[in-house]
Amino acid sequence: MQGEIVEITHAQEFSASHRLHHPDLSPEENRELYGVCNNPNGHGHNYVVEVTVRGRVDPTGMVMDLNRLRDIVIERLIRRVDHKHLNHDVPFLEGTVPTAENVAIAFWREIEPEIEAFRGCSLYRIRVCESRSNRVDYMGPSRKR
Ligand code: NI
Repeated sequence: MQGEIVEITHAQEFSASHRLHHPDLSPEENRELYGVCNNPNGHGHNYVVEVTVRGRVDPTGMVMDLNRLRDIVIERLIRRVDHKHLNHDVPFLEGTVPTAENVAIAFWREIEPEIEAFRGCSLYRIRVCESRSNRVDYMGPSRKR
């Protein structure tokens, strides 16, 4: 149905460790605020990231080849975070407290240019699930909405 707007999503799992610790807070305040995620040596999560692209269905019947989207997600995101320590091993997270919110925002910045390069496509949402119960959605810079 050419011309209709559809959102397509690719999801990948990754495992990583992190430590949530804010430099402006005391050790006690950090423990209180971040709980187990403040463990001094870090701890792990099995994450899922979902990348959603929005666009018009083209004459081939697709918004964007989902295999191309998969390649971008694996190359630009998964390979750089899977089985890594998010505080120490990932240059694009340097200087941030690696909450799911900040991970989602950093992921957006990493892949948006590659998505926008596909004609008629725009990055619609980055969803980061930190557990079965907890997930965050980032829809892009606030000024765009
Ligand atoms: Ni944690």
